[in-house]
Amino acid sequence: MAQQSIGFIGAGNMATSLAGGMVAKGIRPARIWMSDPSRDRLEEVSQLHRVHVTNENRDVAGRVDVLVLAVKPQMMQAVCEDLRDLIADRQPLVISIAAGVTVANLRSWLGETPIVRCMPNTPSLVQAGATGLYAAEGVSDEQKTMAKEILGSVGLTFWFAQEKELDAVTAVSGSGPAYFFLLMESLIEAAKAQGLDPATARQMVLQTAWGAAQLAVASEAGPDVLRQQVTSPGGTTAAALNVFEEAGFREQVQAAVAAARERSEELAG
Ligand SMILES: NC(=O)c1ccc[n+]([C@@H]2O[C@H](COP(=O)([O-])OP(=O)(O)OC[C@H]3O[C@@H](n4cnc5c(N)ncnc54)[C@H](OP(=O)(O)O)[C@@H]3O)[C@@H](O)[C@H]2O)c1
Repeated sequence: MAQQSIGFIGAGNMATSLAGGMVAKGIRPARIWMSDPSRDRLEEVSQLHRVHVTNENRDVAGRVDVLVLAVKPQMMQAVCEDLRDLIADRQPLVISIAAGVTVANLRSWLGETPIVRCMPNTPSLVQAGATGLYAAEGVSDEQKTMAKEILGSVGLTFWFAQEKELDAVTAVSGSGPAYFFLLMESLIEAAKAQGLDPATARQMVLQTAWGAAQLAVASEAGPDVLRQQVTSPGGTTAAALNVFEEAGFREQVQAAVAAARERSEELAG
């Protein structure tokens, strides 16, 4: 991606994180363009990352090799239709990060151009994301490498051969952070109920979650083995895990993920 220019339509949380990640990975800010209706936001991004900024989406779409669509899904149709003639002319690689917006939707609004659809997640905001990517027909290997470099600047990337697989990705890694947040919230409440002061409860729970994730990532053993290693028969952890198992925790996780997937399919239409 040595010389390609990259543009972002929408300079919100996700686009700003991606631009920051790319600059941190050595991409020259002068090759990055961003547009957004908010002058304050653009000023902030330009101060932070030294990228080019403009209020005009067409200024960006008219000059870049890779165009990242980073507006909310409900804005996508209007944004794309406004750029349709420029896209037809220039045929940039279009990368959409909008949840639930399909390649068919994008094609109908933009016309024919190479399209990569992605499903990032919120930990991308702290460079710890997990992103599923799908390349529609007509995307070259070089363009796939560019998409992987852009999304890879804020975390791990995973390619999927079928667009439908992004519904499962949405249910696992897209919504996944919320499942862990729910467990953190519940554990903080339980810690307070056991008499720990709120500030200590919060810090201890977050550090435990962070530590457990770090350990799981660093370890060659799977989470099942790590769980067994902290569970002595008849001990305290076993007492707690029995309560989870008896309440059907695993079945509930299966049902929750299935429900998220179904909802993702419904939203994609
Ligand atoms: N955040 C995540 O972790 C995450 C995860 C997965 C997928 N996504 C997807 O990423 C996309 C962006 O999410 P986000 O969290 O970064 O949202 P966000 O912070 O709201 O960013 C969207 C930006 O686009 C701007 N915008 C609105 N209308 C525009 C237009 N016509 N032209 C150009 N810019 C316009 C918004 O400005 P205003 O605020 O003034 O409207 C805002 O600054 C969404 O489609 C979302 O589904 C995000």
